[in-house]
Amino acid sequence: MTSASIAAIPVITVDGPSGVGKGTVTRGLATRLGWHRLDSGALYRILALAAIDAGIALSDTDAVAALAGGLDIRFTGDHEDNEAIWVNGRDVRATVRSESTGGLASQIAAAPAVRAALLQRQKDFRVAPGLIGDGRDMGTVVFPDAPLKLFLTASAEERARRRLRQLRAAGQDAILADLCIEISTRDERDRTRTVAPLVPASDAILIDTTLLNPTQVAERIDDLIKDRGFL
Ligand code: DC
Repeated sequence: MTSASIAAIPVITVDGPSGVGKGTVTRGLATRLGWHRLDSGALYRILALAAIDAGIALSDTDAVAALAGGLDIRFTGDHEDNEAIWVNGRDVRATVRSESTGGLASQIAAAPAVRAALLQRQKDFRVAPGLIGDGRDMGTVVFPDAPLKLFLTASAEERARRRLRQLRAAGQDAILADLCIEISTRDERDRTRTVAPLVPASDAILIDTTLLNPTQVAERIDDLIKDRGFL
């Protein structure tokens, strides 16, 4: 495909801090529009786990980055309940999604070499009829030409409560105060790194979801995508 025909494929970017509900929002959007979805955080998570499996120290960021090219990664399923993440033929979803893996992903994600190694792989998800990009730098770095950019926020306390509900629904437990600290630490690292920090694109629309339920968030976003003629 030519770069002009790739650029013609629409992208909606959804960025924001951990636990803000991007997964729910982007899965819903992808289903309603019939578009593809990129879970960019999963790529950082998978790479961190692959490095540990290979006995590579996460601080050796060049070696971690070098691993990226050899990973065959596939996402299947269209709903949280039937999604699988395949890495070199193994379903790794359960380990990939854990809170501790999120922290490891955030560590390697601060390294420019790691980000560069994953950049083209993320751009390759831009396939017709359209893409919903879920992450931290979708609107600023990976798809800066996206016609609609959203940036979701919510207080750290509310995000910790949402994460706790999610964990409990999955039969796990945690302490709210610990989750709040983990979430705040990860945000701080993602926000203050020198390369592709977690910041809204200058043309992003900010949505504070602290006082909104998932249906209200979806309604607000649907209004925006109708305005743009996507729905
Ligand atoms: O969205 P997530 O929780 O799965 O992301 C895990 C970590 O990966 C996050 O804390 C920072 C990093 N990440 C990133 O730096 N850029 C992205 N586009 C997505 C995730």
